[in-house]
Amino acid sequence: MPDRPTSIHICVTCRNAGDPEDAPERPGARLYRMLRQAATRRGAPVELIPVECLSVCKRPCTIGFSGPGKWTYIYGDFAPDEASAEVILDAAKLYAATPDGLIPWRQRPSALKKGVVARIPPLASHPTPDLPEAAE
Ligand code: FES
Repeated sequence: MPDRPTSIHICVTCRNAGDPEDAPERPGARLYRMLRQAATRRGAPVELIPVECLSVCKRPCTIGFSGPGKWTYIYGDFAPDEASAEVILDAAKLYAATPDGLIPWRQRPSALKKGVVARIPPLASHPTPDLPEAAE
């Protein structure tokens, strides 16, 4: 398995209900900026990838963790602040330490427990289940 850093996708178009469309900086973009600053400060081995919309628009701000051979996780409800950036980077460290992306429930920060939206299996890891033959 390639040794790649955890990828964190950050929706930079997330905004709160009622926010003006033309605000100078959307909350998602602010969270991305907070993450870049925190990651640089820490020297965190993560790849921060800004994206436009993760289809979780009603739960801003939204991010996702992914890595080779690992489950992808999507989380919402992050405030666009430094505290969220620190929690996300702490969680990314836990994610990186797993072989499959499954952070044990007890280790997960509460923001991840409450904010989980979806998990998606790794590519090419879908064993074909033994399905019963269709009745004819
Ligand atoms: S705008 Fe952020 S998930 Fe859609």
